[in-house]
Amino acid sequence: MKILILTHAFNSLSQRLHIELKKRGHTVSVEFDINDAVSEQAVALFQPELIVAPFLKRAIPETIWRHHTCLVVHPGIKGDRGPSALDWAILKGAPEWGVTVLQANAEMDAGDLWATVNFPMRAASKASLYRNEVTDAALQGVLLAVERMEQAGFQPEPLDYAQADVKGTLQPLMRQSDRRIDWQQDTTETVLRKIRSADGFPGVLDWIYGQEVMLYDAHAADGLYGEPGMLLGHSEQAICRATVDGAVWIGHLRDKQGVHPFKLPAMRVLGKRLAELPKIVAGYSDIHYEEQGRVGYLHFPFYNGAMSTDQCNRLREAYVAARRRDTRVIVLMGGPDFWSNGIHLNTIEAAESPADESWANINAINDLAREIITTESHLTVSALQGNAGAGGVFLARAADRVWARSGVVLNPHYKDMGNLFGSEYWTYLLPKRVGEERARRITQARLPMGTEEAGELGLLDGYFGQDNPQLLVELKQRAKALADDADFDQILRDKVATRQADEQEKPLDEYRREELERMNLNFYGFDPSYHVARYNFVYKVPKSRTPITIAGHRDISKRPRDDWSQAS
Ligand code: COA
Repeated sequence: MKILILTHAFNSLSQRLHIELKKRGHTVSVEFDINDAVSEQAVALFQPELIVAPFLKRAIPETIWRHHTCLVVHPGIKGDRGPSALDWAILKGAPEWGVTVLQANAEMDAGDLWATVNFPMRAASKASLYRNEVTDAALQGVLLAVERMEQAGFQPEPLDYAQADVKGTLQPLMRQSDRRIDWQQDTTETVLRKIRSADGFPGVLDWIYGQEVMLYDAHAADGLYGEPGMLLGHSEQAICRATVDGAVWIGHLRDKQGVHPFKLPAMRVLGKRLAELPKIVAGYSDIHYEEQGRVGYLHFPFYNGAMSTDQCNRLREAYVAARRRDTRVIVLMGGPDFWSNGIHLNTIEAAESPADESWANINAINDLAREIITTESHLTVSALQGNAGAGGVFLARAADRVWARSGVVLNPHYKDMGNLFGSEYWTYLLPKRVGEERARRITQARLPMGTEEAGELGLLDGYFGQDNPQLLVELKQRAKALADDADFDQILRDKVATRQADEQEKPLDEYRREELERMNLNFYGFDPSYHVARYNFVYKVPKSRTPITIAGHRDISKRPRDDWSQAS
């Protein structure tokens, strides 16, 4: 089937649909919903049999839905309507939620129902639920709807609130007043629900020492108490604030009125004002290590998978410490939502010299990658519970094995960030795994990749588990089996020998020097593309056109000239 994905942005959900629909043999093209004329043109060019809208910020124009079946992915249960579906479900503590695939018509979210898939709710942020449960349910719902479209005579169900299974309602846009925190009244559980309902966007508006900030990245601060509303201290970059029955850690803030009005680590936003705030030893940490038998697990659930210079340095230290332990295997766990998205573009944007900070950050991540690549005492595994992008994919590849949860999305390319050349020893790691020709294709194509394709290409060594609990069970068995392998010593010797041979052929330092030479041009050269692209990314400047890599219908080279002029 010819399917057009009409979406506000090519976000994780749209990427997953793109991968899975293509895998099933459909011809898929993507158009960003910029305005009516552009969307209409895309439809005229592509002539889709179906339009799927996974993430829209406005209604589909009537000129389109009147003549084409348009299926909207709504992150709500049957009957739920409105722009704050997940926000309300989290704030109200709904035990179960869902995704409904409905047909676009004149009334927002009120069209006929093609599929609904429900899931149990988890105590997590909106963004985390979106990237996991919602994405999986949306995929199931869209696949079901596509199957139903192909069935002769299937009739979607009109929305009818008299039906017993239609439990949702029309809910308004959630306002800041709906989730404002009352520090004198709210329990830890309530504060967490309020912040999570707005995390990643828009954040909960609050005041800290009179400064207006948006709150994100909240966690319970077990065992800490104080006068409700009081700041108790900080740990790494997070601040701790007391509630009526405990306290919460807040990892990230956004100062909308500030010089840098985007998300940054909390202490980076408040730093100078909080000079006196005590450091809480053994407080919150974005890196932790655990051991089971002869396997060490290093977790680094960095917010949004972004790795600042400081985080890379701390992670390298933690990795080196893990390597000193009497274990055989080290598993690099990343976090539950992302494994890594490479260098931290927000802290770079906020630096006095973004070029210098980019340089420091890429060198810090390279130092970490180097420690992993040159490890001779252990076998190493990267375990991807969540997506990885850009340098994050290659950092994962620095380990001896890369295993992933089925369905994670990889973006193994840098070029979308203003033609960034990239480093993390990718020029060594990628061709070594997939060969020169495929390496070139992967980095040029700039497309998201599913686990199946990444497995076939050799970018992944295995993928399993439909969700993280399933992944963890099998991961632990596999890691233990690797550590207990009767041939462990031989496997380790072979790995060391291969590395030595590679080093003889071309030293790691040489790869790094060549990559950094190109990165130096990206950061300090005459072409400002990387700085512009980073600014646009951090400030979330809407895209003004869909890249040709995903909008196949706009690729003039693939269309007869007459055809093009008719559509324009
Ligand atoms: N630095 C800082 N923030 C980052 C980041 C990075 N490297 N990568 C992602 N983020 C943030 C996004 O700004 C977004 O923030 P929000 O919570 O305010 O919305 C959040 O992480 C999720 O990213 P999003 O783009 O919405 O996720 P996605 O799953 O749809 O897309 C990527 C994933 C990897 C394709 C996309 O995030 C990306 O291109 N990231 C930049 C990768 C990069 O170029 N890194 C630098 C070179 S190594």
